[in-house]
Amino acid sequence: MIVVAHRGASGHAPENTLAALRMARERGADMAEIDVRQTADGALVVLHDASLRRTTDVAEVFAQRRSWNVRDFTLAELRRLDAGAWFGAEFAGERVPTLQECLQVLRDEGLGALVELKVQRRDRAMARRLAEEIRADRHWREAGSEGRLILQSFDWVTLRGMAGDVPGLHTAALGKTYGRYGLRRIAQYARLINPHHLRVSAPYVRHAHAQGLSMFGWTANNHQAIRRLIRDGVDGIITDYPDRVHSTLLAA
Ligand code: G3P
Ligand code: CA
Repeated sequence: MIVVAHRGASGHAPENTLAALRMARERGADMAEIDVRQTADGALVVLHDASLRRTTDVAEVFAQRRSWNVRDFTLAELRRLDAGAWFGAEFAGERVPTLQECLQVLRDEGLGALVELKVQRRDRAMARRLAEEIRADRHWREAGSEGRLILQSFDWVTLRGMAGDVPGLHTAALGKTYGRYGLRRIAQYARLINPHHLRVSAPYVRHAHAQGLSMFGWTANNHQAIRRLIRDGVDGIITDYPDRVHSTLLAA
């Protein structure tokens, strides 16, 4: 069972920060999931929401700005924001990290990377930039062809393009397709299909496996949801609490 720390160990530390990634290993994760977005000046950074409002102090630092969307800020402006204090005073000073900083921490920690591309309107330019960053880095290029780096997206058109841009790259389609025909189509360019945990069932896992697709369920945070995914036969569990997957497995 592959344990994936969702946005890092985001039950224990502020999501998508370096602190959450560092905590993922000690909480028992094999991989960490991160969300990639693009700044106004084309930098790839890690943040879940389109807006900076929920997970940073943008409302105080840039109180006069008309937009608090990541895509309207430069990387230098993002660097002025605190991305940790909202979660707990001990995390004050955490920044919105770049993709490169996250990949470096994951590499140092010996963790795999599940990289989610948060694209706006099928942004091929952003997808190409991400493909370029992966291709340029030998460690992650090799990891991408071995499944220790997986690229996932809800945008299956962009995902298909990425699979072509980086030959051999393991990709995962987020969401659920219906019927075996849909799974067969996904299997032409993806190695995994990753549905919401409530959409997983044992027959669905079997059908995916029959098409050569692995399946990670998300985001299972309590023992009941984790137990159900294990029983249904998924290959990986995406969770804010990697430690709970281990305690559930031990209790089984
Ligand atoms: O890894 C799956 C999950 O991250 C997809 O949903 O909204 O948390 O990015 P979301
Ligand atoms: Ca995500």
